[in-house]
Amino acid sequence: MSQVTIESILQEKRLFHPSPEFSQKARIKSLDEYRQLYEKAKADPQTFWAELAEKELHWFQKWDTVLDWQPPFARWFVNGKINISYNCLDRHLATWRRNKAALIWEGEPGDSRTLTYAQLHREVCQFANVLKQLGVQKGDRVGIYMPMIPEAAIAMLACARIGAPHSVVFGGFSAEALRDRLIDAEAKLVVTADGGWRKDAIVPLKDQVDKALSNNTVPSVQNVLVIKRTGQTISMQPGRDHWWHDLQAGASAHCPAEPMDSEDMLFILYTSGSTGKPKGVVHTTGGYNLYTHMTTQWIFDLRDDDVYWCTADVGWITGHSYIVYGPLSNGATTLMYEGAPRPSNPGCFWDVIEKYGVNIFYTAPTAIRAFIKMGEHLPRARDLSSLRLLGTVGEPINPEAWMWYYKVIGGERCPIVDTWWQTETGGIMITPLPGAIPTKPGSATLPFPGILADVVDLEGNSVGTNEGGYLAVQHPWPGMMRTVYGDPDRFRRTYWEHIPPRDGHYTYFAGDGARRDEDGYFWVMGRVDDVINVAGHRLGTMEIESALVSHPAVAEAAVVGKPDELKGQDIVAFVTLEGNHSPSDALLKELKEHVVQEIGAIARPGEIRFADALPKTRSGKIMRRLLRSLAAGEEVSGDVSTLEDRSVLEKLRQGGA
Ligand code: WTA
Repeated sequence: MSQVTIESILQEKRLFHPSPEFSQKARIKSLDEYRQLYEKAKADPQTFWAELAEKELHWFQKWDTVLDWQPPFARWFVNGKINISYNCLDRHLATWRRNKAALIWEGEPGDSRTLTYAQLHREVCQFANVLKQLGVQKGDRVGIYMPMIPEAAIAMLACARIGAPHSVVFGGFSAEALRDRLIDAEAKLVVTADGGWRKDAIVPLKDQVDKALSNNTVPSVQNVLVIKRTGQTISMQPGRDHWWHDLQAGASAHCPAEPMDSEDMLFILYTSGSTGKPKGVVHTTGGYNLYTHMTTQWIFDLRDDDVYWCTADVGWITGHSYIVYGPLSNGATTLMYEGAPRPSNPGCFWDVIEKYGVNIFYTAPTAIRAFIKMGEHLPRARDLSSLRLLGTVGEPINPEAWMWYYKVIGGERCPIVDTWWQTETGGIMITPLPGAIPTKPGSATLPFPGILADVVDLEGNSVGTNEGGYLAVQHPWPGMMRTVYGDPDRFRRTYWEHIPPRDGHYTYFAGDGARRDEDGYFWVMGRVDDVINVAGHRLGTMEIESALVSHPAVAEAAVVGKPDELKGQDIVAFVTLEGNHSPSDALLKELKEHVVQEIGAIARPGEIRFADALPKTRSGKIMRRLLRSLAAGEEVSGDVSTLEDRSVLEKLRQGGA
């Protein structure tokens, strides 16, 4: 990874303390307080989580066992009955929060909308009734393929309300990728929009849904609900497609939240791994509700008058946990923005902060690097004095970007929470608690109370101070994924067997490399598997390789990441062609477009190199390490003795075919 080299962070010694004023008002006020909480949770995790679950959430019926751990399968709050939509909405209605802004939304063209808790509750109930009317029942999966508009959150909460697990698919994924996910989840209904705004253009969501469902390739889908957002002409298939506004207006606003079992599935979210197709990460209700609730409250140090803005898309886990469920469960005001900074309005994020007086701002390092490039004059021209806390997520942040964020956006007064976590973990795992833990640029600092994070070798032994190893977690936590949808064996293999279980003790393998420094701070180095992180988007190299070889001209493909100043990593594909095809610029373009068709624009390779052959070991494995060095323009070092045909390497070095 270009931005975060071992050398640069080993030299990073700066330490930033929260101001006394910030700490005094904070939820967790000092390092001592954090340490006490941490030790308490470590000594007796079940009591720690149970006390919080009791105090912080509404239960229709209390659990009888806090944790049932049959490694690697966990059940939390066994036999408890709970509904996360109730916790996000209904319980606030009986308080002064009834008319508090729950959701503030700003559309890219400049339109805006605010929904109070009472209004959001009403919309969610109506939509839940629309879903029921179309035959959606408890347990049925619902696909959500939406722009960043309030209806995305409304649809999620309505599903949760009636116990229909949702599977949100990021609007930037192609029709093919959408189809794969709908098939795997056996979705019964899809919620979408005619289109959405992004960077001054319309994303044609409904057209993509039509393509995904064409030729009845997803027979499980019976109905499609369409929200009118952009107003462009789309086709509506009679019997299958319905306008949201037609049905919503006539639906009753009375829809009690269904008491769900703690372990009933809340959602499936697909994410990329190192092998095969994206996997459906399954999260359940009770533990996820508690974990997102507590992490949001302590890490973002929520106060009741805060305006909180997370810039993620609801199509990713960050949007699920920290735009929708965590903030609303806490009764916060969560802000949602439809678009992205764009040539016609590169300062739009700062406009939004000024307009709404945003207090807490949570974004990705790749966005920060883009802001740096767009220029300091843009944020400097706005009043950002409302900000009191900043956050980052998605990839390691380079200390330079951290410092810029701290100085230019935070005015040197806002702590930064660099939050490490994953789709699989449900919520933030390693992070500063902003009033308590001094920060170091580039370090996610210390684990959240209750999280026994560690850096280990492949036998599961903790490595020494400042030694590199694998990021791992030693005890189950409430927000953890429960399984891979339809494939419990894959769940076991992917996360629990890289480090062989010992004496019944299982260690969660995160797939990231890390080290701990002399203060116990974690420094996350990036993925150790065949997953690459492009502009904060997680992509499997195998997925992109499969997309490439599905093109008739391609014989073999190998995809690696190369360091990129803005995106963190960029995609480089090495491709060999079928006999009757030869390299050309036209083919190069065609292959890039083909990947966009198969997966989506986020997977477009930055570079494709044609080659005569790929470097392989004698047993036929592609030597990715060599390709990574070549892609980065480095000297190929280390052991190449297993390389079957050395001339291949020579040719690749000279620029391939
Ligand atoms: C990376 C996003 C360093 C990491 C919430 C992880 C990070 C993957 C950080 C998960 C961070 C996320 N520092 N690396 N603060 N946050 N990552 O599932 O490689 O989209 O495994 O979840 O992002 O990506 P995912």
